[in-house]
Amino acid sequence: MDSIAVLTSGGDAPGMNPCIRAVVRTALFNGKKVFGIRQGYTGLLQGQLEEMQARHVGGIIQQGGTVLGTARSRELYTEKGQEKAAQIFKDSGIEGLIVIGGDGSMRGAQALSQHGLKVVGVPASIDNDIWGTNMSIGVDTALNTIREAIDKLRDTAASHRRAFLIEVMGRNCGYLAVMAGVISGAEVVLIPEIETTVEDVAQAIESGYHRGKSHSIIIVAEGASIKAQQLANSLDEMTVGFQTRVTILGHIQRGGSPSAFDRLLATRMGVKATEALIEGQSNVVTGLQGRDIELLSMDKVVNNQRAANLEYHRMCQMLAF
Ligand code: F6P
Repeated sequence: MDSIAVLTSGGDAPGMNPCIRAVVRTALFNGKKVFGIRQGYTGLLQGQLEEMQARHVGGIIQQGGTVLGTARSRELYTEKGQEKAAQIFKDSGIEGLIVIGGDGSMRGAQALSQHGLKVVGVPASIDNDIWGTNMSIGVDTALNTIREAIDKLRDTAASHRRAFLIEVMGRNCGYLAVMAGVISGAEVVLIPEIETTVEDVAQAIESGYHRGKSHSIIIVAEGASIKAQQLANSLDEMTVGFQTRVTILGHIQRGGSPSAFDRLLATRMGVKATEALIEGQSNVVTGLQGRDIELLSMDKVVNNQRAANLEYHRMCQMLAF
């Protein structure tokens, strides 16, 4: 294999840049040509491929977002789109591709590998919903952003004796919410994996109030069956002791300089993915298992989904006492 390409796809995640840097420089170190594809699969289908040199990825290790840009492409999920992408690779003589992205991006990568391209995936998504890896790139930084925001909200919550309902991202996975609950001492965490009623939340807040707490932190995963504002409206009609306020953290969770953990994870996964591709491996995804970066079957990764670890949910509830 003489040349490979790299793209970032789906929601951006802090750590994508150190991963791109690792891919580009590992390829160049091994005497391969490397092409960067702009705006994910959308850019690929428009033929936006640019050859990259070592200096193109200089000074990006600390930057959030992705210098290649990213997108959510619908076209690639059609047979026609996949054939077009495969043809673009054939015409350009590029034999391998590294896809850095979330579970949807891995599905796209799998489809391309079924069209004869050699593809290696690298999991990057703040949701941590990708099967087979303990951590995806971006999760640690997002969790630290959430921690910092909740610490600030607690200051004002305690001063005013209020209950704060804080919505965090995660799509259909409660990972970020549960972990945020544990590290921030939340009273209740609502996640898609567990059914929680308005009455459960009201009871927990009221009980904390009567036990002498000065405030209450409630975390609501965006995928939970009750939305944060809806919950606040219902709680306002009940007597729970504290007044409620809602904060939706939103896309702030996706930005910022990658943490030390994410830089290291991204670098290790970028190197592993590139070396695997150069050796001729395909249809695999890098995964953190224990302390090691392993190669997982892409079919397995795509056909499974990771959910929140409910043991942390139990721990959080117990320690809210
Ligand atoms: O997958 C990452 C994520 O941030 C999810 O947590 C969220 O549901 C979604 O992307 C938001 O997508 P968009 O940036 O397209 O609004």
